Amino acid sequence: MYLDPEEEKILAGEKGETRQKMLELLIALGKVFGAERLVRIRSAQVSGASYKTIGEYGLAWLSSLDARAVVPAVLNPIGMPRGRWQEMGIEPAFAARQQAVIAAYERLGVILECTCTPYYLHETSFGDHLAWSESSAVSYANSVIGARTNREGGPGALAAALVGKTPCYGLHLDKNRKPEVIIQVTSDKKEWGIARYGALGYHIGKLVGNKIPYFRGITPNPDQLKALGAAMAATGAVALYHVDDITPEAKKNQFNIPGLEVIRIEPAEIDRLFSDISVDAVAVGCPHCSPAELVDIARLLKGKKVTKPLYIFAAQGIIESNRKTVNAIEKSGARVYADTCMVVSPVMERYPAIMVNSGKALAYVPDMCGAVARIGSIEECMAMATTE
Ligand code: F3S
Repeated sequence: MYLDPEEEKILAGEKGETRQKMLELLIALGKVFGAERLVRIRSAQVSGASYKTIGEYGLAWLSSLDARAVVPAVLNPIGMPRGRWQEMGIEPAFAARQQAVIAAYERLGVILECTCTPYYLHETSFGDHLAWSESSAVSYANSVIGARTNREGGPGALAAALVGKTPCYGLHLDKNRKPEVIIQVTSDKKEWGIARYGALGYHIGKLVGNKIPYFRGITPNPDQLKALGAAMAATGAVALYHVDDITPEAKKNQFNIPGLEVIRIEPAEIDRLFSDISVDAVAVGCPHCSPAELVDIARLLKGKKVTKPLYIFAAQGIIESNRKTVNAIEKSGARVYADTCMVVSPVMERYPAIMVNSGKALAYVPDMCGAVARIGSIEECMAMATTE
């Protein structure tokens, strides 16, 4: 693998032992995947931030490192909202270990934003190279923004943040970003809200695995694209998709698609995923809510009182910059939490059945929270949480 003079110096240990080790890790990764060189990144998003997932071993490894991030780097959601963990019912022993993980990342110069929607907080543009970890964020960056990132593991993303580069392979290269299967969705008269796009993604992810789908027959907005991509990354391993005439690379490129396999989707296949089981709690914000989603939730909750626990998740920066909307939502008794989500917080394990508006949460809640999951539109979710 080619290394430039600056990288040679890091490898020789001239920039400290941690950076040397991190570069060794990146080179090893690059060799496995056939990278010819490293590429400079604009930002990193690091998974492995929840104490629930990394435990003592991960904390000890983080504490052993001694360098600072050289590009903006944020974290994946953690097990609790940093400022409101008591209120959420988190055990003090868990909170103390989670704080220790956060402190370890802070020492490494990682920005303490714990979110799967870093694109709302740090400018990310078409063509940027990134080293992001969380699968829905990776999908959004690649597909909706047209930036370039592989789905990094936690250590790989952290190494990239500390070195400022990542191995150039996979989705960093044009040749690997072409459509591999066409998804032709038959249109119907129903309105396709966020939940229906999430359910479509849930269904398609199972059908296509890690192929790059090219959608026809749908016209999603950015929040709906976010839901579609998150779910395909959960039930499949889709890190990039294109939507005819909507996503930037589909608009820019004349992809040569005539010879590709076509999968036809009838609306009834998606409708089947919507059930009417009773639930004990409602959770939305998977991926973390956009400002527009918060406004919509506030509108639906206006003048209502919640009768079932209603959790809403968003990035801290989005909550702070939309404080009036968040206050209006919380007036109903709902709670808007930062830093965490329904899948990584241990709190959700107390509910036997949870209603969500996300295809990704529909896929993960059963295994990660031990709960039955039901998907419904945002209107149905808010109605469920406020019904006597
Ligand atoms: Fe984000 Fe948690 Fe969903 S990390 S994509 S809100 S499972």
